[in-house]
Amino acid sequence: MSATDASTFDFTQASERRERNRKAVRIWLGLVVFILFCLVLVGGATRLTGSGLSITEWKPIHGVIPPIGAAEWQEEFDLYKRIPQYEQLNSDMTVEGFKSIFWWEWSHRLLARSIGMVFALPLIFFWATGRIERRLRWPLVGLLALGGFQGFIGWWMVSSGLEKLTSVSQYRLATHLTIACLIFSASVWIMRGLAKQPTDAPPTAWSKYAAGAIACMAIFQIYLGALVAGLHAGLTYNTWPLMDGSLVPGDLFVQNPWWINLFETRRRCSSSTAAAPMSCGPAPSCIC
Ligand code: HEM
Repeated sequence: MSATDASTFDFTQASERRERNRKAVRIWLGLVVFILFCLVLVGGATRLTGSGLSITEWKPIHGVIPPIGAAEWQEEFDLYKRIPQYEQLNSDMTVEGFKSIFWWEWSHRLLARSIGMVFALPLIFFWATGRIERRLRWPLVGLLALGGFQGFIGWWMVSSGLEKLTSVSQYRLATHLTIACLIFSASVWIMRGLAKQPTDAPPTAWSKYAAGAIACMAIFQIYLGALVAGLHAGLTYNTWPLMDGSLVPGDLFVQNPWWINLFETRRRCSSSTAAAPMSCGPAPSCIC
């Protein structure tokens, strides 16, 4: 074999190896994205079923094991009975009712832990065996760190509903949801970047900026959506597209200082009107 043939052979082998490695990493990230998708669904169900405050302790390792036997269930339920949500909203709940909210929250946390493992262990393996391209190493480590941070935010959010509030703080809920979106989109981005790229003309700088701007606006809208959900502000106006007969309701800024209306709600019994932001912005609602 001539020197040119040998170097062509080496080059072909190296590029085949690179393609194989990329495919393996892509499949791994595809699995991560799938579990993340399930995690987001279970997180949403946890919120919608009002289950988010059922586990009142932060036990990253021991929390994997759910209560076993009647005595342990009663113990866990007794912990829940101490928080305002039970006292003010669920005081007629039985152990059986408690179990149904517990399982949602427990499954959410279990999936979150599993995804940590499904991400970290293959990352170590792929890194150690030289299968991860240099340019992807720090973005993947960053993604792992963001996942860990999300776990901390999850607990920070839960802790906001254990002493005074009957549900979690809207700010912390919005932070949790926004970070979930960032983790999900970053994982999809890295995975897609490893796929065979189309041979069409590359995007122009302008279209890249426009796509980036649309993505940022969508994430901001999701943040606002979580504030609305956290405040139960979605029920403030029951007409669409106008709110109380106008595009911008007259009592938009009832609270002082004015900017607090963008984030907080004031409960008022007698009035059917309440200030509301436009579109998906958070709105004060009528609450006693
Ligand atoms: C990568 C990890 C995680 C992701 C992607 C994730 C994602 C989500 C999502 C999308 C929601 C629904 C939010 C909404 O409906 O606005 C949610 C809810 C929730 N998450 Fe997570 N989560 C993660 C980890 C955790 C951890 C580790 C905890 C607890 C320590 C936690 C606690 C909660 C709670 C309590 C809720 C319900 C909040 C409520 O009661 O309103 N999450 N999560």
